[in-house]
Amino acid sequence: MRIVPVSLGNRSYAIKVGGGLLAHLGVECAALKLGQRCAVITDSNVGKHYAKVAVKSLVAAGFEPFLITVPAGEKSKRIAMVEKCYDQLAAHRLERKSFIVALGGGVVGDLAGFVAATYLRGIPFVQVPTTLLAQVDSSVGGKTGVNLKAGKNLVGAFYQPRLVLCDLDAFKTLPKREYISGLAEVIKYGVIYDADLFAQLERNLPKLLKRDPTTLAAVVARCCEIKADVVGQDETETGLRAILNFGHTIGHGIENSFGYGKFLHGEAIAIGQVAAAKLSHQLLGLPANDSARMEKLFVLAGLPVRIKLTAAQRKKLFAAMLLDKKVSGGEVKFVLAESIGKVAWGQKVATDLINGVLP
Ligand SMILES: NC(=O)c1ccc[n+]([C@@H]2O[C@H](COP(=O)([O-])OP(=O)(O)OC[C@H]3O[C@@H](n4cnc5c(N)ncnc54)[C@H](O)[C@@H]3O)[C@@H](O)[C@H]2O)c1
Ligand SMILES: [Zn+2]
Repeated sequence: MRIVPVSLGNRSYAIKVGGGLLAHLGVECAALKLGQRCAVITDSNVGKHYAKVAVKSLVAAGFEPFLITVPAGEKSKRIAMVEKCYDQLAAHRLERKSFIVALGGGVVGDLAGFVAATYLRGIPFVQVPTTLLAQVDSSVGGKTGVNLKAGKNLVGAFYQPRLVLCDLDAFKTLPKREYISGLAEVIKYGVIYDADLFAQLERNLPKLLKRDPTTLAAVVARCCEIKADVVGQDETETGLRAILNFGHTIGHGIENSFGYGKFLHGEAIAIGQVAAAKLSHQLLGLPANDSARMEKLFVLAGLPVRIKLTAAQRKKLFAAMLLDKKVSGGEVKFVLAESIGKVAWGQKVATDLINGVLP
């Protein structure tokens, strides 16, 4: 097992990465000295495979868990579902020392984290992320929240978990498309922070695609380390944390304008990262070879790197991009790369240049 510390003063916690960790959930929670009662929040897909093991492990360690299963999918990330969870927590008389276990992908993590952040003004929670995206990204860093009709993640809280358990065995049941989508975030960490990681991904991609446990352990732990490092320096995104958004300005625009569901998040940001690399070449002198290496790695991973846009879709994409949080004073701000491993944030890019990299 690898342990990655997240240093945030009295809100510090550990990310543990390894195989078979779910069976140790109870023992791990016992070490945190939490109350006896707890809720395991999961979704209908993940629960089928892993709820029993989680609950059994908690019971064996002396806890009194109960299960809340929400329907799988982004639709569960909404206020109505938060209220349903509150009602169940109240019915089971959860108190300030009680805790919540988020067992699932980013949807469950964001929802359960927000419930934990707000129920009784905050009760402890533990993340057990089961998708690649959730293990390397959404479970680390304390962003929790839900969507509104007006847009994604518009309601939320910064609220750190007490522990993150990344059980690599969860990938055994993760659908291929979801797994590959997560690789887009993995590659992103190499681009924004770690040229060695990027080179390692180029070398080990076949093993990674086979979900080789040894390769995965090293890669997941390194990605968590990078995210922890960035979040440790800028917890609430006043500066540096923005680099995690590399490829996301265009990526979010694509998700938004095509409707959520057409592209998975990782697919959209793969396209976004390749477009951002082209802008980086023009504006920050990113070497053409670096840009080509990035595009090649996404392609070999099985991710899309470009889209054909109709005029109407292009219009929608720009409208979505201009509505994004990263806009100030009508100009779109990008994270751009100077080289693989080094990026700069807050880069203003004119819309005609963006048009040029979206064929
Ligand atoms: N909080 C953050 O910092 C942060 C960062 C990035 C993304 N997010 C959020 O994360 C969400 C996306 O997360 P996601 O990609 O994990 O999606 P998800 O939670 O919807 O999971 C994807 C699908 O895989 C299924 N699944 C999950 N684990 C499985 C497993 N081990 N075996 C079989 N099936 C499994 C789920 O039921 C779902 O159908 C979005 O809502 C996004 O906004 C949050
Ligand atoms: Zn992302």
